[in-house]
Amino acid sequence: MAQKLPKVLITEPIPSKVISFLKQHAEVHVGKKGEFQNEAKLQHKISGYHALLCMLSNPVTKSVLEKGEQLKIVANFAVGYNNIDVDAAESLDIKVANTPDVLTEACGDFAMGLLLAVTRKFNEAESYLRSGHFKGWDPLGFLGMELRGKTLGIVGMGRIGQAFAHRAKAFGMKIAYHNRTILTSEIENSLSAKYTSSLQELASTSDVLSLNCPLTKETHHLIGDEIFEIMPVHSILINISRGSVVNEESLAKALKNKQISGAGIDVFENEPIVHPELLTAPNCILLPHIASATYETRESIGMLAAKAIVSVLQGESDQRIPNLI
Ligand code: DGY
Repeated sequence: MAQKLPKVLITEPIPSKVISFLKQHAEVHVGKKGEFQNEAKLQHKISGYHALLCMLSNPVTKSVLEKGEQLKIVANFAVGYNNIDVDAAESLDIKVANTPDVLTEACGDFAMGLLLAVTRKFNEAESYLRSGHFKGWDPLGFLGMELRGKTLGIVGMGRIGQAFAHRAKAFGMKIAYHNRTILTSEIENSLSAKYTSSLQELASTSDVLSLNCPLTKETHHLIGDEIFEIMPVHSILINISRGSVVNEESLAKALKNKQISGAGIDVFENEPIVHPELLTAPNCILLPHIASATYETRESIGMLAAKAIVSVLQGESDQRIPNLI
């Protein structure tokens, strides 16, 4: 008799190569776009599945995990995994995987692009042109901040923070950073990066403050009124980490009161909802969480998550699955 295949739930359509790969090893169900952003739906569906390939928008809570009585692994289609209750998974003996490394370069490119778009006012200038206001070259039109010689302060100097720093260095920026651990002198030297032990000092001395740290209890609302009050008025905030690292209401207020001069934001506290005050804040580019959105990277993310699933389902030892948390 043919052996029964394990069951894998992929919560949303993902690159077809990944689905085909998983289908060689399991019975696969792919949810509809946005179907499992709701905890109750996931809770209802998860029973009977041996593996879950979920998105960062899926709340994989303790109660979801408890309903997954057959569940062996949850693999997140993302490097950040704050949507998963990792402690609950551990206590239920369910493994958790994420997707480090494969999205680093795409996110580094994106952060650089976002910084340029904010400092050089791409969005405002394009809307001006499209709405018919471009009547001739203007020597005083859309002046922005040049990057050369300015300081980029990075909060969270992991892989993505470093990838951004490499690019910013090539643009002539000085690099400062605040991190749980100090980088090796080899890495610091390669980036000409200076460690700053105090977040306040970093915020008050940076022309651009970039958030590249994971969302944890410690980083929740790390950036709020207190930090906006000390950031230079010409400074810019870039956030491609997680929305809740920033208090969005404080950010909107800081932009409206001109406490800072601009922001580039790819992530939001309550995605897909964007704080209404941010939608009307000046010089603020708001994007729908697309830092890793390249064909190549999204396929690599999926394959890394899928390979962890197959390895776990085949009983591979944890040491041989590099992306288990
Ligand atoms: C991740 O993988 O955590 C990122 O937020 C994707 O852009």
